[in-house]
Amino acid sequence: MFDTPEVNARPSVDAPKTDAKAFHDIVESRRSVRFFSSDPIPQDVIDQCIDAALLAPNSSNLQCWEIHHVVNEEKKKELAKYCLGQPAATTSQELFVFVTRPDLWKRNNQWTLDEFDRRGNMPDKAYQYFKTITKLAYTTGIFGIAAPFKWLMFNVIGLTKPTPRGPVGKSGMKVWGHKSTALACAHFMLGMRAHGFDTCPMEGFDVVRVKRLLGLPRRADVTMVISAGKRAEGGIYGERFRFDKKHTVKTH
Ligand SMILES: Cc1cc2nc3c(=O)[nH]c(=O)nc-3n(C[C@H](O)[C@H](O)[C@H](O)COP(=O)(O)O)c2cc1C
Repeated sequence: MFDTPEVNARPSVDAPKTDAKAFHDIVESRRSVRFFSSDPIPQDVIDQCIDAALLAPNSSNLQCWEIHHVVNEEKKKELAKYCLGQPAATTSQELFVFVTRPDLWKRNNQWTLDEFDRRGNMPDKAYQYFKTITKLAYTTGIFGIAAPFKWLMFNVIGLTKPTPRGPVGKSGMKVWGHKSTALACAHFMLGMRAHGFDTCPMEGFDVVRVKRLLGLPRRADVTMVISAGKRAEGGIYGERFRFDKKHTVKTH
C-alpha cells in the first residue's frame, strides 16, 4: 500500500536552516487568552496565518477543511453568543470557525487527480493511490451502508497481516477530518503568536446554531472556534501547568 517511489522519481527538496529558539519561544508563549485588547489584527497577518493553517499536514492531502472568518458584525455577535458568551469570544477582535468537511473527500480526491494531470509527471503509484486506495479507505456508501462491510473486511484481513482498521462509517470519517483540521488550528494559533497576536481555541459552543449561522451542511462538523486578538492585561487565567511527563510520555 505504501510503496516508496523510486529515488529518481522523487524531487530533491532542501531542508532550509531553521531557528529552533524562535519556534520554542512561539510555542512557549502561546496561551489561551480569554480577554483581548481593542488592538486590531492587520489583514496581512490574518492572511498569512490562514495560509500557515492551510499548510498543516493532513490525511492523504485531501484538505477536507474550511476556515470561516466571520467578519460581519451582526454574525460575529451571534457567533460569540453561540460560544456561550465566553469572554474569549465576546472580547476578541476576530473569530474564525475551523470546519471539517469529510463529505468533500471525493471532490478533493478528483481535484488531486486533476492536479496530477496538470503536472503530467506524477508516478503511476501516486495515481493508483488516489484512484483505488482512497476510494477503499474513505467510501462510506449511501447512509453509511459500507461501514459494516468495511469493518468486517478490515478485521478479517487484519487477522493475518497488518491492516488499516479505519476510518469506518460516517463517524469514523468525522474523526478522520477532525484530526487534520485540528492540526490546521494549531498552525493558525502558532502563526498568530509568531506575529505577536493571541488566540483561544473553543469547543464550548452550540454546534447546531454555529452550523446554521454559517450555512453548513449536515455532514460538516465544527472542529473549533478560534478567537484572536492581542492579549489584554490579565487576559490569561493563570500560570500554565502540564502534568508530569512520566504520565504522558511513554517510551517503548
Ligand atoms: C479542543 C479545545 C477546546 C477548548 N475549548 C475551550 C473553551 O471553550 N473555552 C476556553 O476558554 N478555553 C478552551 N480551550 C483552551 C484550553 O482550556 C487550554 O488550551 C488549556 O487550558 C491549556 O492552556 P494553554 O492553551 O494556555 O496552554 C480549548 C482548547 C482546546 C484544544
